[in-house]
Amino acid sequence: MLQTPIVIVNFKTYSESMGERGVGLARTIASVAEREGVSVSVAPQNPDLHRVATQVRIPVLAQHVDPLTPGAHTGWILPETIKEAGAVGSLINHSEHPLEIKEVEMGIKRLKEVGLISVVCAKDPEVCKSVASLDPDFVAVEPPELIGTGRAVSKVKPEVVTEAVELVKGVNRKVKVLCGAGISTGEDVRTAINLGAEGVLLASSVVKARDPEAAIKDIVNGVLTSRRV
Ligand code: G3P
Repeated sequence: MLQTPIVIVNFKTYSESMGERGVGLARTIASVAEREGVSVSVAPQNPDLHRVATQVRIPVLAQHVDPLTPGAHTGWILPETIKEAGAVGSLINHSEHPLEIKEVEMGIKRLKEVGLISVVCAKDPEVCKSVASLDPDFVAVEPPELIGTGRAVSKVKPEVVTEAVELVKGVNRKVKVLCGAGISTGEDVRTAINLGAEGVLLASSVVKARDPEAAIKDIVNGVLTSRRV
């Protein structure tokens, strides 16, 4: 369902991505992705999942899910709920929403049980390795100190990308490896993919761009000019 190389745009809780603005942003991203034939997924704010999923044909992810089963829980988000809302999977363990490793394990298991894709974030290659042993679909290495800085992990810390790929594939070849933090341009994306990443996870460079259409076009162009295409 999520083809690689992939670009995942995390909408976070930026005001530019709330409600109808999130729908507009998702439409803009989807039309560039479809026109260029590049795999792109969006992760809107959870209350906007359904309206975004009904407005675009590209895959939609949740930003977080709780590893619970249906029942008497208040204020939590279940895999079943995001599936009903139209999501194909979820990010979990983002450094802005960290979980204990036990919760990550349960989250992967619960997502799998309902047929959803897990994209597990990890702060460094060693954590990627531990997560890979839990058999998620994707691991995304994101050094927290570069998030939102515009300084791309692929340029500033390329060794983090190569090491994450090596450690993850050493444990479980099926797990796909993404990288994120500071990815801002097509060149950052091309560099990431050429280092061995199977895609990127990014946010501010598109969500907060003055011209999000131009920003996503540049990002998508990075995929098209990488070695994997
Ligand atoms: O989930 C994506 C992320 O944390 C990276 O954010 O703004 O550096 O692209 P950003």
